[in-house]
Amino acid sequence: MKHDMPQPGPERTQVNQTVPRLEIRNLSRAFGGQVVVDHVSLKVMPGQVTCLLGPSGCGKSTTLRMIAGVEMQDSGEIFVDGQLICDTVFRVPPERRHIGLMFQDFALFPHLSVGDNVAFGLKGPADRKRARVEELLDKVGLRRFIDEYPYQLSGGEQQRVALARALAPKPRIMLMDEPFSGLDNRLRDDIRDETLEVLKAEDAAVLLVTHEPEEAMRMADEIALMRNGKIVQQGAPYNVYNAPVDRQAVAFFSDINVIRGKVQGALTDTPFGQFLAPGVPDGAEVDIVIRPQHIKLDLDRGGRGPNPTVQDGVAARGEVVRARFMGAESLVEIRMDYDGSVLKATVPNVFLPSLGKPLWLMIRRDRCFVFPAAGA
Ligand SMILES: Nc1ncnc2c1ncn2[C@@H]1O[C@H](COP(=O)(O)OP(=O)(O)OP(=O)(O)O)[C@@H](O)[C@H]1O
Ligand SMILES: [Mg+2]
Repeated sequence: MKHDMPQPGPERTQVNQTVPRLEIRNLSRAFGGQVVVDHVSLKVMPGQVTCLLGPSGCGKSTTLRMIAGVEMQDSGEIFVDGQLICDTVFRVPPERRHIGLMFQDFALFPHLSVGDNVAFGLKGPADRKRARVEELLDKVGLRRFIDEYPYQLSGGEQQRVALARALAPKPRIMLMDEPFSGLDNRLRDDIRDETLEVLKAEDAAVLLVTHEPEEAMRMADEIALMRNGKIVQQGAPYNVYNAPVDRQAVAFFSDINVIRGKVQGALTDTPFGQFLAPGVPDGAEVDIVIRPQHIKLDLDRGGRGPNPTVQDGVAARGEVVRARFMGAESLVEIRMDYDGSVLKATVPNVFLPSLGKPLWLMIRRDRCFVFPAAGA
């Protein structure tokens, strides 16, 4: 079937901030009857970075490959600047999508100089190509290497050349699949930040795949949390972190503590006092989920803890079973008197109480999340 559709071209027209640069609607894909991408929809605006964040095997790379056009969806549509580029009938081939790709196993051409690597996808007169190559190598801080060969560069420098190469044809969209995972930590932070600056300056819409929450928090304007082929939550990093949709969403970003309780009259009684459980029927169980940095510790006062407060509720007693210094904070594990379970708390800087020391724990009402009990 032939469609007479306008094709997205590489020319940069006025950036329209209301039309998403990239939009996918209800994209699905199954392999051998197993659905791995399940009605995924998202939008990325020009100059914005969206992170597709999720555990291994949840369908992130498959989603990216469909957008790139190297994998075909079973259903759903892909739009660039409001124009359909792919549904199940019509399909712009990958090389005409003007999408830049940067994957973990990026490979520079070893027999080409840095400058020729960056120029690889460029067309047109030699002086224009040269100017674009110099502009990009300037941006990634590697202009002096223009006539060197890839083997003469460090891993991080090669990564930046790969970025320059992907950006050279001015892609409207950059798809990045764990592009920083081959680098050591310190280098990675620097390269992430530099990459972001370059991408924003080029006004590309970026869809970045990662399974590391820290990377997503650092890079993203928006995080799309993916699990079992579905996007379970989408929003600004602050919102996804502070208003998680379920217990797994909390656990994806940090260690968690869970306290189980039974609901009576929209309240649940726990050793830490009562918690609100609005809308939960009587007799149902809930999980009160709290991150280690939001547990408050207090010292023992001759067998007593602090007096109950509205904000912190009742304090519960436990004894230290482990304390470790982690650099920016200390991690203390406490075995609770009420049922022998171990809760984790982090404290800024150095706090290394001796083993067996009694401590009183409190849970801030505005920092915990109450969900229907998992598996209940
Ligand atoms: N061509 C294929 N044929 C069969 N199964 C596939 C194919 N491509 C992917 N899968 C399966 O689809 C699921 C999702 O794979 P995908 O590569 O999208 O995961 P991912 O989220 O990128 O994981 P990771 O973080 O490990 O890279 C996996 O179970 C994988 O085995
Ligand atoms: Mg992958």
